[in-house]
Amino acid sequence: MVKIDVKGCDSFVDSALYNEYVNKALNAFDVLESENGAGNDFLGWKHLASEMRESTLADIEAIKAAWEKKGVDLVIAIGIGGSYLGAKCVIEALSHNFAKQLKKKEAAEVVFAGNNLSEEYLAELMDLASERNVACIVISKSGTTTEPAVAFRVVKQFIESHYGKKEAAHRIVAITDAKKGALKTLATQEGYKTFVVPDNVGGRFSVFTPVGLLPIAVAGMDIRALIDGVKKAEKELAVKSAENPAVVYAAMRNLLFKEYGKSTEILVNYNPKLTYVAEWWKQLYGESEGKDGTGIYPASVNNTADLHSMGQFIQEGTRIMFETVLHVDSARRSVVIESDSQNLDQLNYLAGKHVEHCNHMAELGTRIAHIDGGVPQIQIGIETLDAKRLGEVLYFFEFACGISAYTLGVNPFNQPGVEAYKKNMFALLEKPGYEEATKAIKERL
Ligand code: PA5
Repeated sequence: MVKIDVKGCDSFVDSALYNEYVNKALNAFDVLESENGAGNDFLGWKHLASEMRESTLADIEAIKAAWEKKGVDLVIAIGIGGSYLGAKCVIEALSHNFAKQLKKKEAAEVVFAGNNLSEEYLAELMDLASERNVACIVISKSGTTTEPAVAFRVVKQFIESHYGKKEAAHRIVAITDAKKGALKTLATQEGYKTFVVPDNVGGRFSVFTPVGLLPIAVAGMDIRALIDGVKKAEKELAVKSAENPAVVYAAMRNLLFKEYGKSTEILVNYNPKLTYVAEWWKQLYGESEGKDGTGIYPASVNNTADLHSMGQFIQEGTRIMFETVLHVDSARRSVVIESDSQNLDQLNYLAGKHVEHCNHMAELGTRIAHIDGGVPQIQIGIETLDAKRLGEVLYFFEFACGISAYTLGVNPFNQPGVEAYKKNMFALLEKPGYEEATKAIKERL
């Protein structure tokens, strides 16, 4: 079970008020579990793992095997937001830090596109693609998002010109809606293998559908272990209790926000592999809670690096934040600091110690310093960073997000605010159908 420790908030919060927020979170738990709250047509993510079909996993593994047979060594995964961050975070968390430099060949390298509109990025991606054996996964639930559509047009033309149109159909997989959207029409017409994003699963909750699982599998990660972890968390978190870690997390973050003005939450990690877990978490909480003029602003730091940049602000700046630390009990590799006869660096006091011991002491020292500086501390703990534990912790954050947003009083499963920039961009790009908006926006320039 994911462990949660909120003792680092004790000196900041009143315990009677905490109990009130636990009751609010338990009511929100009931709303989530009885499936009668706002956005309840988007709850398919809750049971993705326990209802996972063997045939889905087998289909995903078959694509990996088929591409391996062709010698594919570069898979371009195209998508943005929830159609990008889940796969990216799992692949980063479970990969060797220096896989690229070591040229480890156990699986294809997965690179991402369609998550920006940078011309340089796409041009340089094509430089890479021209030296490699390429396949592509194009992901868009709506099938209409501009960023992935632009990237896919470029990558599709590249693949067709290098391998021919017929072969391109074996090197491109589309993941999209069952019926609607431009990508669905295109995939059907071109004869691409297609996976469906279920109607009742929103983008930021889709990491355990083929949206996340296919790129994760082709990158060589164990999707079955990941799903095992999710199944475990699904079972454990479904128990209504004041000790349920998702209830505790939702209660404490809402209490800190509503009663103590802590409007920024910083997700902290002490392992660079977790950088994109924080990016995924920021989307999950930012899009789920930031609406109706409320919500906690989700931020992140990567320690100990950021202790030498953001550490000053967190210690002494505006007192609006609390921290949620992702604690990992033990490292999966071992480096012991050796004794040195000269001791010129004066580090012999650490001789015989593991580097991870120093990392843990940095974490503990920071926790105490930040409490002293007025920053409440929540700790989310896992034993080690493997596929199963990662599945558990990602599902924990999803489930807690549903409870937390209902506790806050917002619909966790919509994102109406995302449309505003799109409307302006289409108007500025003079997209057909936007003539009035184009005229109006041009008058403002
Ligand atoms: O969480 C969400 O729904 C969004 O972030 C989407 O994932 C993102 O906008 C991409 O949408 P689509 O998959 O339809 O291209």
